[in-house]
Amino acid sequence: AKGFNVAIDGPAGAGKSTVAKKTAEKLGFLYIDTGAMYRAITFAALAEGIDLHDGKALGKLLEKSELRLESSNEGTAVFWNGADITAAIRTNEVNSNVSLVASHREVREGMTAMQQELAKSKNAVLDGRDIGTHVLPDANVKVFLTASVEERARRRHLEQLEKGLPSDFEQLKKDIAKRDELDSTRAIAPLKQAADAQVVDTTSMGIDEVVETILDLVKEHS
Ligand code: C5P
Repeated sequence: AKGFNVAIDGPAGAGKSTVAKKTAEKLGFLYIDTGAMYRAITFAALAEGIDLHDGKALGKLLEKSELRLESSNEGTAVFWNGADITAAIRTNEVNSNVSLVASHREVREGMTAMQQELAKSKNAVLDGRDIGTHVLPDANVKVFLTASVEERARRRHLEQLEKGLPSDFEQLKKDIAKRDELDSTRAIAPLKQAADAQVVDTTSMGIDEVVETILDLVKEHS
């Protein structure tokens, strides 16, 4: 049987992963963090010293490696050839290189196939950039989650400070805007609102409010 699929796309820092995880929890659905998958290959390529401009080499790396996601209430644990790289994929180095890695056709084809396989015949919530437009064009519910750059940078900034990490608000704003620009202008499956997606601007919304909005959409489409 075909599963019920919820696609949540949007720019960096819009709260997609927090919202997608909570929504999946409430629905008892599987949560698939597709950004974590692109982060994983970026980390592995950096570790192996592979040229990040070489799509073919990156495609080969993906083919010969085993990538596994384990979702739980805690979040998504990520394993590359059995090694736990959950924390390693969230560094600044990965942040600033992931859009380049994700721009290659060979990488996107491999990831898209994996994502479609993971979601197939399952009830699942997926978050990313191209879920509603390319990975699951027939998703039952499509949400485009967005917020102003200012607000997205502010949230990241507070997150960093809460963790006791150094944080530069202006730099964060630049980094986020840069990643959006790269993700939106790439040739293959760019970040884009699907024609049939519901836009949810979270600039002045709390997490629970956003989750409730999506749960309402799911009810409407069930
Ligand atoms: O969602 P997250 O910020 O973890 O995504 C990291 C990066 O992975 C994005 O900036 C984008 O370059 C890439 N990505 C993508 N397609 C997706 C999910 C993420 O290209 N479906």
